[in-house]
Amino acid sequence: MTVLTIRRPDDWHVHFRDGEILKSVAPFTAAQFGRAIVMPNLVPPVTTSAMAADYRKRIEAAVAGHAFQPLMTCYLTDATDVSDLIGGHKAGIFTAAKLYPAHATTNSAAGVTDVWRIKPVLEAMAESGMPLLVHGELPKPEIDVFDREKAFIDAILVPLLDRIPKLKIVLEHVTTKDGVAAVRAHRPRLGATITPQHLLFNRNALFNGGIRPHLYCLPVLKREEHRQALRQAATSGEPGFFLGTDSAPHLRHLKEAPCGCAGVFGAPSALPAYLKVFEEEGALDKFETFASINGPRFYGLPPNEERITLRKSPKYVCETVEIGKLGDIVPLLGGDQLAWSCG
Ligand code: NCD
Ligand code: ZN
Ligand code: ZN
Repeated sequence: MTVLTIRRPDDWHVHFRDGEILKSVAPFTAAQFGRAIVMPNLVPPVTTSAMAADYRKRIEAAVAGHAFQPLMTCYLTDATDVSDLIGGHKAGIFTAAKLYPAHATTNSAAGVTDVWRIKPVLEAMAESGMPLLVHGELPKPEIDVFDREKAFIDAILVPLLDRIPKLKIVLEHVTTKDGVAAVRAHRPRLGATITPQHLLFNRNALFNGGIRPHLYCLPVLKREEHRQALRQAATSGEPGFFLGTDSAPHLRHLKEAPCGCAGVFGAPSALPAYLKVFEEEGALDKFETFASINGPRFYGLPPNEERITLRKSPKYVCETVEIGKLGDIVPLLGGDQLAWSCG
C-alpha cells in the first residue's frame, strides 16, 4: 500500500504551552489533526473556565487559517470549584479534566495531593459524563521510576473505577503491559492514549551511545516487552486505544541541561512516526481506527468527516524548530527520513 485515505485524525493529548512557543508549535498539530485535547499544565495552570476560554482564544489565533478545533481541559487541584468545572463542561468550554498527581510530571506542583480529597468533584464529573484524564504515575520516592505506572494503576486507578461507577477515565500516555491489561479489563469506561515515542523506542534508546535528553519524557520509556504490548494494542483496532502524541515541547537548553525537563516534542513528525509503526506491524488497515475513530467514540463526539491522503513518499523531519529569540526545540526523529508523509 502506498496511499492511505482516511478520516482526518485527532490528537487526544497535546501540550501547546503559551506565548511564543504556542505560536511556533501549534501549527504543526493543526496541519495534521482536526481536533486536539489541549493539556492545561501551563504556569500558572488552567484551573478555571475563564482561563480556559482565554487560552482557547490564544490557541485559535495561533492556528488561524487551519480548520482545527482545540478541546480544552481543566487542571484539577485540591481546590477545584466544582460548579465552575461542571458549568464549564456544560457551556462547551471544558471537554475533560486532568488529574496530575502532585509532583508526578512537568508543572504538576499544583496537582492533586490525594485523589480522595476531590471525590465529590469526580462524582459530579461522572454524573455529567465528563471524562477524567490521568497522568498515571504514583510519584513516591520509594517507588522505582519504571514501576510508577503499575503502582498508580493498582493504588489509584482501579479503586477509582470501582468506587465511582460511572466515571470515564483515560489513562494518558500508557507505557506498560499492565496499563494495556487494565484498559482491556475495564472497557468501555477506561481508555488510553499511546504516544509515538513509546511505540518506537524502549528504554535502551535513552542511553544509546550516551544520554539522549530529547527522548526523555514521563512516564519514562520502558522495557521492550512493554513496547511490544503497546504496539499490539495500538494496531489491534480495539476501541480503548487511541492516538495521543503527548507532544511536549521544551526549549533545547532546558533539555540539554544538568537537570533536563521531561517531554518529547512529537508534533512535527507525528503521523509519519505512527505510520512507520503500523506499517512495520502490517496493520495500515487499522490506522484509521486508532487515529480517527476510537478517540471520538470514547469522548462521544462524531468522527471528522473530512478525508486526508497519506502517501509513501520519503521526507525528512526538520532538525529543529526555531522559537524566535528564545532558542529552538528538537522534534522527535528530528533530521531522520521517514517513509510516509502527509499532505
Ligand atoms: C509533559 C510536559 O512537558 O508538559 N511532559 C512529559 O514528559 N510527558 C507533561 C506530561 O504529559 O506528563
Ligand atoms: Zn503526563
Ligand atoms: Zn502530556
